[in-house]
Amino acid sequence: MKKELFKKLLNLLSLEKDQNYDVLDFGCGSGRLLGKLHKVVGDGSRLIGFESSQKSVEEGRLRYPNVEFQHEKFIDAFSFPDECFDLFISIDTMECIPDMTVLLSEIHRILKKDAQVLIAHWDWDTQVYHSGNKEGIRKLVAAFSNWQQGWMDACDGQMGRKLWGLFQSSGLFRGEMDVFTLVETEYEKGRYGYNLLQGLCPLVKNGQLDRSEYDMVLDEMQSLYSKGEYFYSLNSYIYAGRKIELENNEKPELR
Ligand SMILES: C[S@@+](CC[C@H](N)C(=O)[O-])C[C@H]1O[C@@H](n2cnc3c(N)ncnc32)[C@H](O)[C@@H]1O
Repeated sequence: MKKELFKKLLNLLSLEKDQNYDVLDFGCGSGRLLGKLHKVVGDGSRLIGFESSQKSVEEGRLRYPNVEFQHEKFIDAFSFPDECFDLFISIDTMECIPDMTVLLSEIHRILKKDAQVLIAHWDWDTQVYHSGNKEGIRKLVAAFSNWQQGWMDACDGQMGRKLWGLFQSSGLFRGEMDVFTLVETEYEKGRYGYNLLQGLCPLVKNGQLDRSEYDMVLDEMQSLYSKGEYFYSLNSYIYAGRKIELENNEKPELR
């Protein structure tokens, strides 16, 4: 599902083939993006996947032996020394962190001079499903967007659109925004739009979503698909930038 997004992300990086890089992927899941990066960078590179889920780390260690997994949860600091990475990546993880000021200052601290930062996040609040049941689909999109799942310390379904403001106003990075648009016309297992709607079952079970309204939307999606009218789309907003060197170690005024 994320194959095309990852391809775009790798194209946004300015990397010289076979040169060595020290890279941190924060909230790396099973390390798929680092696995792809490994094919581009030099053999002496250090690819570190920082991840709080034990299951993902175990899976990643089996799949990507060239990635060094750090099974740890970020709370308010990284255990890495100052200025040790050439590149900081994080995909769909920022919304889980309650204190963005602390995270941005930590990213800045562990990056080397002029190092790159690449952050991407789906904007869950703006998911698009073709539906005649406008209220029903709005409720489901909002329910997912507001759903703080057990593995998240915070949730913000509008993180995608916030990336620019967060990085730009921090005074710690200079960069640009880009966007990747996912479009799906298949309502089938394994597709993003399908999986997302099916995955809302826990909210139905605990009474946060009305079962009949939920079933109505699922039936409509199936029916639209059988008529060739199903359409789903979602945007991932991407911040690609570099660390700004602060004069005399001056600390900017953070929000
Ligand atoms: C939505 S997943 C994205 C995974 C991967 N980056 C990708 O794009 O496929 C977010 C990941 O961040 C991890 N995560 C969330 N909060 C974290 C924290 N405080 N410290 C480390 N990892 C965290 C989760 O366990 C999860 O694997």
